[in-house]
Amino acid sequence: MNKIALYCRPGFEKECAAEITEKAAGLEVYGFPRVKDNSGYVMFECYQREDAERLIKELPFNSLIFARQMVLVGELLRNLPVEDRVSPIIGMIDGAVENAGDLRVEVPDTNEGKELLNFCRKLTVPLRQALRARNILLSKENSHRPVIHVFFIASGCCYVGYSFSNNNSPFFMGIPRLRFPSDAPSRSTLKLEEAFHVFIPADEWDERLASGMRAVDLGACPGGWTYQLTKRSMMVDAVDNGPMAQSIMDTGQVVHHQEDGFRYEPTNPNIYWVVCDMVEKPWRVSSLMADWLIKGWCREAIFNLKLPMKKRYEEVCQNLKMIEDKLKENGINAQISAKQLYHDREEITVHVRRIWASVPGRRDERD
Ligand SMILES: C[S@@+](CC[C@H](N)C(=O)[O-])C[C@H]1O[C@@H](n2cnc3c(N)ncnc32)[C@H](O)[C@@H]1O
Repeated sequence: MNKIALYCRPGFEKECAAEITEKAAGLEVYGFPRVKDNSGYVMFECYQREDAERLIKELPFNSLIFARQMVLVGELLRNLPVEDRVSPIIGMIDGAVENAGDLRVEVPDTNEGKELLNFCRKLTVPLRQALRARNILLSKENSHRPVIHVFFIASGCCYVGYSFSNNNSPFFMGIPRLRFPSDAPSRSTLKLEEAFHVFIPADEWDERLASGMRAVDLGACPGGWTYQLTKRSMMVDAVDNGPMAQSIMDTGQVVHHQEDGFRYEPTNPNIYWVVCDMVEKPWRVSSLMADWLIKGWCREAIFNLKLPMKKRYEEVCQNLKMIEDKLKENGINAQISAKQLYHDREEITVHVRRIWASVPGRRDERD
C-alpha cells in the first residue's frame, strides 16, 4: 500500500492536496497528489512504498486542516463481482492489518457518494463476519486498534485500507453526527459545538468548558454560538449591532453589547473564552484574536476565518503564521490548531489556547 486517501469537503480538494504535499515533505516523504475537483477526496501517492505507513503514523492527523480522515490504502478495486464483493476486499487487507478494532464502509461526502450509503450498510454485515472469521477484525469493537476502511468512490469501485486509531478521525466518514438543538437560534450553533468536540478532549470539558466561566462572543447575533456557551452555564458578553434571539436573552446569562467587535474592550478581568464569527477579512479577525490573547483578555479563543475565492491554502497559512509570530514576539506560549469542520462552508475554524506567558504579572496557566 503506497497511497493515502484523504477525505475532504467537496470543492476543497486543491487545498487538501497542497497541504498534504507540504506536510509530507516536512517529514521527508515525497509523492504526488491526485485531485479530481468536487470529488470529496484526494489520493496522495508516495514514491516510496514504506513512506505511506510512516506518514499515517507520524504526521499528526490533527495538524491537517482540510482533511477529515487519513487512510492508508492499496490499489483501486474495480468492477467488484456482484456475486462476491467480499473476497477481493479481504484479499486487499489480509496481511496488511490484523486484529483491527473497527470496520467502516464509507463514501465521499458528495451526492453520488450518498447514493451508495445504503449499499455500504448492507455490505458491512457480511464483510464484518468474513473479516472476523480470519482474525483481521476483532470480534468486539476496540477503539485502541486500527480501523479498517472500505471507501467506495463509485458503484463496484473501492479503495481498501486502514488508519491508526490514535491518529485518525474517530467519526464515520470523518463527520461527527450532531443533532441540531431545536431551541437554538441558528444552525451555526453546530459549528461551535463541533469545534468543542474537535479541539477540546472530552476528559477536559469539565475544566475548560466549565459552568460559571465567562465568555465573550464577537459577532454573536442571533445567538447560535452564545447558545452553546449558555448551555454550559457560562456568562456571556454578546457583541453585535444586530438583534439577539429573545430566548437567549431570557436565560439571564447574557449581556448584549451593541458595538463594533473590533473596538469592544472587555471590562471583566476573568474572561476564559472569546469566540468570534464575524464576517470579515481573515487577516483582520486573526490580528484581533492575537491581540486578545496577547493582552491576556482570554485564555482560549475559537474563531472562524472566512476564506477568499482564490489562494485559500496560502491565505490560511499566512494567517496562522502571523498569529504564531505575534504570540511568540510577545512571549506567549500557545497551542494553535485549525480545521475545516464539517459544519464550516467556505471557512475554517481556528482554536488557540494560551499555555503561559513569559511577561511578569500576566495571568497564565501557572497562576
Ligand atoms: C455569521 S453571523 C454570526 C452568527 C452567530 N455566530 C450565530 O451562531 O448565531 C455574523 C455576525 O457578525 C456580525 N458582525 C459583522 N461585523 C461585525 C463587527 N464589526 N462588529 C460586531 N459584529 C459584527 C454581524 O452583524 C452578524 O450578526
